[in-house]
Amino acid sequence: MSGTRSHWEKVYTTKAETEVSWYQPHSQRSLELISAAAPDPVAEIVDIGGGASRLVDDLLARGYTDLTVLDLSEAALAKSRLRLGSDAGKVAWVAADITEWHPPRAYDVWHDRAVFHFLTGPEEQAAYLAALRAGTAAGSTVIIATFALDGPQSCSGLPVQRYSPETLSVRLGPAFGLTRQAEEMHETPWGTQQEFSYAVFRREA
Ligand SMILES: C[S@@+](CC[C@H](N)C(=O)[O-])C[C@H]1O[C@@H](n2cnc3c(N)ncnc32)[C@H](O)[C@@H]1O
Repeated sequence: MSGTRSHWEKVYTTKAETEVSWYQPHSQRSLELISAAAPDPVAEIVDIGGGASRLVDDLLARGYTDLTVLDLSEAALAKSRLRLGSDAGKVAWVAADITEWHPPRAYDVWHDRAVFHFLTGPEEQAAYLAALRAGTAAGSTVIIATFALDGPQSCSGLPVQRYSPETLSVRLGPAFGLTRQAEEMHETPWGTQQEFSYAVFRREA
């Protein structure tokens, strides 16, 4: 097991849902951005590094029917499946490292909250971007949330690369046009604040 995978498996097997800094009872900003980009419930949506996030619960509740959640950690996905019960069967679950994943199709919406920012080296970033290109098509929406330029320098004890929507836009390249951006001050379950930057891109070609 790679060091990164064992790190995340340990997190999800030893910590309760509300003991991780990124916990949100509802991912309001993500929901708003996804609903605006893809109001049609048949939209094909993938949540990259979805972990045990409740975003998938809320997307199901809004009637979305084509949902995929990918995460490095089997334990994270198992938590979500357990929570969802019989509704878990309505979701495609993928246990994979995004830097090694070969998407089987192009999604209408690629959503990533707090995953790309862990990729601090040029090779792993390039591998993520190759998956992003393979998993999207012209017209797809890409929503990526990272720690903002003034945000923390690490998350879950791991270093992160911080971005503004503009610096992320440069990293994604001209094929992805920046269409929306939002800052969010996330409050951790223990009351500290973390500044997130959300950027929405439309794949142009
Ligand atoms: C900070 S958590 C965010 C989880 C979720 N997106 C949320 O907002 O609640 C980062 C997640 O990314 C996953 N992750 C980290 N590196 C990954 C990789 N290379 N491929 C896939 N998932 C990864 C972790 O297992 C973890 O669930």
